[in-house]
Amino acid sequence: MGLSFALDPPVTAALRDEAVELWTAATNAGGAVGFVAPVTADDVRPVAEETFAGVTDGPDRLLIGTDDGRLVAMLFLVDNRFALKAHWRVLKRVMVLPGSQGRGYGAALMREAAEAGRRMGLAGLQVTVRDGHGLDAFYAKLGYRQVGRLPGALRVADGDDRDELVMWLDLR
Ligand SMILES: CC(C)(COP(=O)(O)OP(=O)(O)OC[C@H]1O[C@@H](n2cnc3c(N)ncnc32)[C@H](O)[C@@H]1OP(=O)(O)O)[C@@H](O)C(=O)NCCC(=O)NCCS
Repeated sequence: MGLSFALDPPVTAALRDEAVELWTAATNAGGAVGFVAPVTADDVRPVAEETFAGVTDGPDRLLIGTDDGRLVAMLFLVDNRFALKAHWRVLKRVMVLPGSQGRGYGAALMREAAEAGRRMGLAGLQVTVRDGHGLDAFYAKLGYRQVGRLPGALRVADGDDRDELVMWLDLR
């Protein structure tokens, strides 16, 4: 059937379960989405629920990609909750189901997010990236440029600190 997107879908119990499943699988396949593998659904669920609360109670927004009705991609457009930064958003938890990666779904999801950002009248989108996964190349291909680097900001394990890259897409 192919990939289709929905911005702000109803956050049903089924969607929450699928999102936790996706988030867990993406992490355990080596993804850099807030956790360090291995994780279980029980580890992910509380963080996912907190993230969903930002959507259901506002002001964050959720973009999902489904393939034949199945959740295969998602990201959150997170509000800065700060009046002087109300004109841009941070994209968080950008992920594609491991079995669906490498088919252009991630790029399509990001393009859809940029479209949503333009419709919202935003000036730009930011992503923060865990260094060492090659992910900056994924974002660079989509027009994001590196605007900062926080040295050793992410402690993924004792004695293993990674830089956090700040990347920006100008929508103006
Ligand atoms: C990162 C992610 C979203 C990319 O999605 P995807 O569907 O696999 O990517 P696409 O197939 O759309 O790839 C688009 C382009 O980016 C490149 N790319 C994708 N992932 C990459 C990576 N990790 N490193 C370098 N390049 C990458 C692809 O080779 C492709 O290049 P091309 O256009 O020259 O062919 C996906 O791999 C994922 O969910 N990873 C786990 C979660 C994660 O770490 N998210 C990032 C949070 S900052």
